[in-house]
Order: sequence, then C-alpha cells, then structure tokens
Amino acid sequence: MRVLMVCLGNICRSPMADGWLRHKVKLHDLSIEVDSAGTANYHVGEKPDHRMRRLSQEYGVSIDQLRARQFSVADFDNYDIIFAMDQNNEQNILRLARTENDKQKVKLLLNELHPDQDLEVPDPYYGTDANFKEVIELLDRATNAFLLNRQLITKQ
Ligand code: 4NP
Repeated sequence: MRVLMVCLGNICRSPMADGWLRHKVKLHDLSIEVDSAGTANYHVGEKPDHRMRRLSQEYGVSIDQLRARQFSVADFDNYDIIFAMDQNNEQNILRLARTENDKQKVKLLLNELHPDQDLEVPDPYYGTDANFKEVIELLDRATNAFLLNRQLITKQ
C-alpha cells in the first residue's frame, strides 16, 4: 500500500503525518510506502518548519530528512490513498483528478478518527508551540486510527 499525506505548504501538517506513519510502519514492520506533498509550491525544497522539527523530537519522531514538494497529477498513479489535511486541500487535489478512480483515492485524514465528520487538521503555521503540539497529537491519533481501521495493527 502507498499512502500520500497532503497539506498546503508540506512543511507543517503533512510532514508530521508522514513522520508518524513512517515511524509506525517501521515499528510494526508494515509494508506501507509513505510520502507527503503540498498543494502549493511556496516551500518546495525546504525542510519541515523548524517548530515542527523541534517539537517532533519530543515525540520521538524525526522529520528532518523530509523536503517539501508540490502535489502533482502523477501522485494519483503513484499512491493508493491520498489523505488531505483539510477540505480546501481536498478540493484542490480533487480538481486535478482525471478519473473517478483518482477521486476515490482522496480522503480527509480525520475521517479515520471521526468517520463522516469531515473534520480538519488545523493549520498551525501562524500559531504557538501549543498549537503545533495539538496537531502532533491529533496526527498521532489519526495515523493510529488509520492502521487500526485497516486491521494493520491491533489495540494494546
Ligand atoms: P502546512 O502549513 O500546510 O501545514 O504545511 C502551512 C505552511 C505554510 C503556509 C501555510 C500553511 N504558508 O502560507 O506559507
């Protein structure tokens, strides 16, 4: 299975979602390929935001090796599931879909945790460390829910 996490800049939310899922894939020896991208091109080539890099260490997840890239149509061919962090990004991804099959790959990540509620991962970019930590903890729970929902892990 191949999973792509997508936000706006690919420097805050999606690299952290990517980091958590990679961490759990390694921990549980799962065969899932993980990457992340942004719908915008503002930060292409950059490392994740310094606040997210610093705070992710407190949770034992390193995202330092990631570099921002922009979502492209080829991602529909290269990934099985495309998780959007919010509805704006979901709509921007869906606008690029070529087929019904492309569209069906696109999901809101938080629907894994709260089915059918269409909740969004808040953008922490203009926020505080506390906002970044809330996002990190939300993404931890959402990535666990994803693996549990597909029975790739079991509850302890
Ligand atoms: P992200 O956060 O979409 O979670 O990576 C943002 C990063 C940068 C900007 C907005 C959101 N920006 O406007 O530059």
